[in-house]
Amino acid sequence: MLADKHILLIVGGGVAAFKALDLLRRLREQGAKVTPVLTKAGAEFVTPLSLSALSVSKVYQDLFDLTDEAEMGHIELSRAADLIVVAPATADLMAKMAHGLANDLASTLLLATDKRVLIAPSMNVRMWEHPATQRNLATLKGDGVLVVGPDEGAMACGEFGPGRLAETPDIIAAIDVALSDGPLKGKHVLVTSGPTHEPIDPVRYIANRSSGAQGTAIAKALVALGAQVTFVTGPADVPPPAGVRVVAVKTAKEMLDAVTDSAPADAAVFAAAVADWHVANAGDSKIKKDKSGLPKLEFAENSDILATVSQMKTGRPALVVGFAAETDDVIAYATAKRLRKGCDWIVANDVSPSTGIMGGSENDVTLITADGAEDWPRMSKDATAAELATRIAKAIT
Ligand SMILES: Cc1cc2nc3c(=O)[nH]c(=O)nc-3n(C[C@H](O)[C@H](O)[C@H](O)COP(=O)(O)O)c2cc1C
Repeated sequence: MLADKHILLIVGGGVAAFKALDLLRRLREQGAKVTPVLTKAGAEFVTPLSLSALSVSKVYQDLFDLTDEAEMGHIELSRAADLIVVAPATADLMAKMAHGLANDLASTLLLATDKRVLIAPSMNVRMWEHPATQRNLATLKGDGVLVVGPDEGAMACGEFGPGRLAETPDIIAAIDVALSDGPLKGKHVLVTSGPTHEPIDPVRYIANRSSGAQGTAIAKALVALGAQVTFVTGPADVPPPAGVRVVAVKTAKEMLDAVTDSAPADAAVFAAAVADWHVANAGDSKIKKDKSGLPKLEFAENSDILATVSQMKTGRPALVVGFAAETDDVIAYATAKRLRKGCDWIVANDVSPSTGIMGGSENDVTLITADGAEDWPRMSKDATAAELATRIAKAIT
């Protein structure tokens, strides 16, 4: 698997840096070519000579090394490998990555690269559990950075808890996955996103405040895991992600047709905020404001897309995920909704205006499955999407 793969191994200044030597050795045993990059702090823990001897390669340390730039510039170095692995990833490196800092060779390579990045964090338990590190972790996950570990256990500093560098075999397994085409390769996933517009007449419509941000982030995260994604989107505020097949619709009826036309799918995620009703007596021409009084709109129910797909007798996706955006009794409504509709999972969230979720950049969800309700921490919509995509990959592969 690793034969002929080229890995850029960034070794940060953590007490576990010595374990990078074992990792390097094992990677080489499996046929990988490894180019080490050592941070200034990293060099306090392991010597460039050890890394160079084990990798049989030059060790890169300085952004402003004239010889390095003449041989291979930092941009070229950031692109030359198939994968960048940061082990150990210090709290400092994670913070730099999350904030786009580029003030040394390692952080500049991480900002300049167009390749996948896998980090193996390692630090004191309090540093790991600090809200700043957890925020950075969520940002990095949202940016598509892959993470292995940390493990839980006794630490070099004498404390106990999560923060130990993942074991070498686990890091190598994560490298294998990162270098593969993704766990969802060959899987077709349908994602709906955005609001629907239900016409009142040719110029007016009834809509809702969905921005499409969460559905877009989910589609992006699924693509990152190798899925072939059909993205059925209502008129959203955010553009569709790259690498998906986009089917743009306006009404709930058009969305249902696009969804059924997109079958078969291995999984379907219904993140769109579909209108429950349409205007049955929508005007063919603009309704005039005249003396005959206010227009009387008659509503008719839209077909239920989630229930339709969940209850398909043939060709039902193996996993059907619905969203429940509620303003009251979120968990109770969402739990009942899962059973009523017949879907497998419901991602429930409170969209009361005070939460700032609808149209905002963060989400605070509870995943409801047959096993019960699992409350996720509030995090960016990108991080929520990455977590959901990982769960979907586990469920259908
Ligand atoms: C003895 C010692 C051990 C350290 N261990 C860790 C560690 O395990 N994880 C970590 O995130 N920082 C650790 N630090 C702090 C980092 O070395 C420091 O934040 C440094 O700036 C990291 O630089 P880098 O991210 O460029 O490698 C340690 C510092 C010392 C002095």
